[in-house]
Amino acid sequence: MSVREILRMGDPRLLRQAEPVSQFGTRELDQLIEDMFDTMHAANGAGLAAPQIGVNLQVVIFGFGQNARYPDAPPVPETVLINPSLKPLSEEMEQGWEGCLSVPGLRGMVPRWARLHYEGVDQYGHAIVRDVEGFHARVVQHECDHLAGILYPMRIKDFSHFGYTDILFPGMDSAKED
Ligand code: NI
Repeated sequence: MSVREILRMGDPRLLRQAEPVSQFGTRELDQLIEDMFDTMHAANGAGLAAPQIGVNLQVVIFGFGQNARYPDAPPVPETVLINPSLKPLSEEMEQGWEGCLSVPGLRGMVPRWARLHYEGVDQYGHAIVRDVEGFHARVVQHECDHLAGILYPMRIKDFSHFGYTDILFPGMDSAKED
């Protein structure tokens, strides 16, 4: 088990365009993904992108049954998504609260496409093709934004809905502070 340090907002490595993965089924890729899951689980995260641990590759993971940081969110299947491409299925946008392990202690209201088509491959190069909506669509957009150097505060339109998690949600029982 290897929990890696999560880079925090302000680190220029979070602002890079990530490189595509070209080799699959390798020991290095397996190790990276294992470290990412260990790191995400240790932080109670709903998702994590490789650039957040300083690895500039187009690799994201996400998924949970029940998540302490998002207690009302429906389950999202545990997924490894590499070299993703995203496309909205309609023009409808949806506002929702987001946090980020690279922006600890804060939450903001972020507009995202409500219905999303996404494609990519897993760590063995097998295709992943899904049409999703709601929180699943939100998580994928948030994680894939990391691959383009975009952090969720850059997406906020209304800064009156941006603040400290414990002030915004005083009753929320989260095992870890963001
Ligand atoms: Ni994030």
